[in-house]
Amino acid sequence: MDNAKLTKILSQVEAFPSMPAAGAKLLALLEEPEVSVNEVEDILRYDPGLTANVLKLANSAYFGIPARIGSVKQAIVLLGLKRLIQLVIASCVGAVMNKSVPGYNIPPGNLWRHSIAVSIAAEALVKDKHNLDAEDFFTPALLHDIGKLVLGNFVKDDLNSIESITAKGIPFVVAENMILGTDHCKIGAKILGMWSFPTEIVNAVRWHHDPETSDDSTMQIDVVHLANLLCQTNATAPDSAGQSVELSTAVIERLGIEIAQFETISGKVAQWVSELADVLTFS
Ligand SMILES: [Fe+2]
Ligand SMILES: [Fe+2]
Repeated sequence: MDNAKLTKILSQVEAFPSMPAAGAKLLALLEEPEVSVNEVEDILRYDPGLTANVLKLANSAYFGIPARIGSVKQAIVLLGLKRLIQLVIASCVGAVMNKSVPGYNIPPGNLWRHSIAVSIAAEALVKDKHNLDAEDFFTPALLHDIGKLVLGNFVKDDLNSIESITAKGIPFVVAENMILGTDHCKIGAKILGMWSFPTEIVNAVRWHHDPETSDDSTMQIDVVHLANLLCQTNATAPDSAGQSVELSTAVIERLGIEIAQFETISGKVAQWVSELADVLTFS
């Protein structure tokens, strides 16, 4: 590992595109105690392409709304403001996440489908927990691997060295650190920090492979960790081909998840993903 390489990686993070203006403004609204429908409509009015994608997602079979949602106002009434803002964020990142990712051997579309899969699995894991709002888990799960978009090119250049480490059974993310001096979790957290995401979301991305090392364990970290692992073992596009990932037993204990529940969700995720991930077409 050399410092020049790490400096180059960090300069690529700074050059990463900013969140589209409408997404950034709506994200800031999430922190406000009261938000009016008019404020949201005003922000989206200037981005018809984004609005069209948000409405496509809102009308996807996944949400099961029987009537057709034709406006931002209707979407807020039927799905709620928090969900609408999540769909705006998903629409903003969908196009970049739909590309192939070098280094990780991820073909076009797979990172997007994997990200949606993890979001859906995260919500399903906490749906029955009365003290939690399942929707709070969607966005950190959606963005958990965004760091790969920057780190992929560097992983590609050093893939032989990384693979000589993973061949010994060492997790891929540890090998990233050994060779590059950073990993896709840290880089993802940096991107989201730059985009002014709330700290809980940044931390969930930062620690998704290593929940026990975080100073503050949070439900978001635990659930994203578990949901990501759940999506390694079914047909919803694994994290990356052949990467070994370790399940934290402390997380299982903290969440009190039964193995049967894990299996039920695992069996349904692929169907839910096709209902939500495939509605956006990217050009
Ligand atoms: Fe990851
Ligand atoms: Fe992942």
